[in-house]
Amino acid sequence: MNRLKQPLWVALLLLISVVDLPESQARMMGGGMGGGMMAIFDGYPTEEACRNCHEDLENFPMLEMVNPDRHHTLVGTPIPYLEQSKAPDAPGGTPGDPYGCMACHEYVWDIMQMAYVIKPFSDCLQCHPVSVVTGSPMTRGNVHHQTETFLQRNCHVCHG
Ligand code: HEC
Ligand code: HEC
Ligand code: HEC
Ligand code: HEC
Repeated sequence: MNRLKQPLWVALLLLISVVDLPESQARMMGGGMGGGMMAIFDGYPTEEACRNCHEDLENFPMLEMVNPDRHHTLVGTPIPYLEQSKAPDAPGGTPGDPYGCMACHEYVWDIMQMAYVIKPFSDCLQCHPVSVVTGSPMTRGNVHHQTETFLQRNCHVCHG
């Protein structure tokens, strides 16, 4: 191989490994991105895919309420230990303490309003990482497989 072309090869190999990374990383975290028979997400999970179900109370009445309310009814209930949390990447709070706004929301100084305001966010995966929302029942990490619907073996509700 001539000396000029070698760096190009190295760059190409690096590029390939970078492109490969999300999927292999997700597998290491126990995520179910194998594209198996029971896959729901078309590749990497997205906020849009979460909202498709979580904002569809007609087809998923067991969700009981719209998504912000679902979170806000947790205010005052105890924050679980990280290992038990369904949202281990949420901003914070001490386990055992009651959920307050700051456990989920970050405040930023708004110069126009001269006040601290809630920093807007919307991406579910920011707090509910891939490892807690994917994976088969065998891997145990997927919160969807800890629900009443799962325990009643109503797989079809989510898996179509
Ligand atoms: C409340 C919704 C829900 C219910 C009920 C549910 N699952 Fe899942 N399941 C999911 C989600 C979400 C995933 C992640 C899908 C993905 O990664 O594409 C998943 C993933 C899986 C996977 C891994 C798929 C893959 O390719 O990685 C298997 C296997 C599976 N579920 C089996 C079952 C079985 C069997 C039942 C019933 C006993 C069941 N599930 C009930 C939501 C649910
Ligand atoms: C195919 C529909 C579907 C998709 C896609 C889906 N969910 Fe769900 N999810 C459900 C249903 C239905 C339940 C409630 C089941 C029950 O309470 O019996 C649920 C429950 C949950 C729970 C609570 C588990 C518990 O113990 O009560 C969390 C957290 C959650 N989903 C987050 C997510 C996130 C984040 C995404 C996107 C990455 C997502 N879901 C994608 C249908 C879905
Ligand atoms: C357990 C986490 C959690 C806690 C605790 C929490 N929130 Fe939220 N909040 C959320 C999530 C998640 C959303 C966005 C939901 C969505 O986009 O579907 C949200 C949305 C909001 C919004 C945007 C308006 C809306 O309804 O979408 C406001 C304002 C808000 N929260 C204020 C508060 C205040 C004030 C408190 C404390 C009393 C609080 N939240 C406590 C998670 C939480
Ligand atoms: C800023 C962080 C944050 C974001 C963003 C967020 N959540 Fe949550 N969510 C939480 C926390 C914290 C909990 C409580 C986890 C626990 O106590 O185990 C929670 C709990 C839930 C629950 C279960 C509520 C219950 O009654 O136990 C569902 C369902 C859920 N989230 C869905 C979503 C969906 C869908 C999105 C995106 C549209 C989303 N969340 C965005 C932090 C967040």
